[in-house]
Amino acid sequence: MHVLGISGSMRPEGNTALLVQKILEGIDHHGMEEITTEFISLAGKQILPCRGCEKCKKKKWCIFEEDDWGNIARRILECDVLVLGSPAYYFDVCGQLKNFIDRTYSLYHDRKLAGRGGVAVAVCADRGGERTLETLEGFLSTHEFNSMGYVLGKGYHAGDVLKDKVAMEKARETSERIVRLYKKKSH
Ligand SMILES: Cc1cc2nc3c(=O)[nH]c(=O)nc-3n(C[C@H](O)[C@H](O)[C@H](O)COP(=O)(O)O)c2cc1C
Repeated sequence: MHVLGISGSMRPEGNTALLVQKILEGIDHHGMEEITTEFISLAGKQILPCRGCEKCKKKKWCIFEEDDWGNIARRILECDVLVLGSPAYYFDVCGQLKNFIDRTYSLYHDRKLAGRGGVAVAVCADRGGERTLETLEGFLSTHEFNSMGYVLGKGYHAGDVLKDKVAMEKARETSERIVRLYKKKSH
């Protein structure tokens, strides 16, 4: 089983990256070679917005190949569980991740992502985390992922989220849930 964690934040070592990585570390901690983990940060990646051309309806893939979207989308297609994180920007996901999500319209027509497990992760300084989670969960449910829960962290400066005990515990529980899923599937 392969678990892919993605942080949509432009801060490569920010709170979202740390929280997503915490979940992956909790899985790695079990030392099970049957479960592999991978982390991708969208920081510094070029992800152009969806142009709404609808050409993907026929091609079943985004027609733009010149930016980083395609390689990351291919990594999602390889995973069994996606842990998708975003910082709250004005009570919603950040623009970089929204661009990424919008382009996955091209994978929707033949439900390429359906059946995977999905975890929504958000970090906010104060308010807007719930709405950010709703957008992430809307993405996951539209693509017919099976929900494996959510983690909401609090933090402003990079690193703050590690002091959020509730989020750390939720991250640990999420790792355990993913490991349990693997054990159930393999028996
Ligand atoms: C453009 C921008 C918008 C933000 N909007 C919100 C917000 O609506 N609510 C909130 O609580 N924090 C907001 N924040 C703070 C971030 O959510 C917070 O610093 C978060 O920890 C950043 O995560 P990161 O380190 O993964 O980038 C905003 C920060 C930026 C830069």
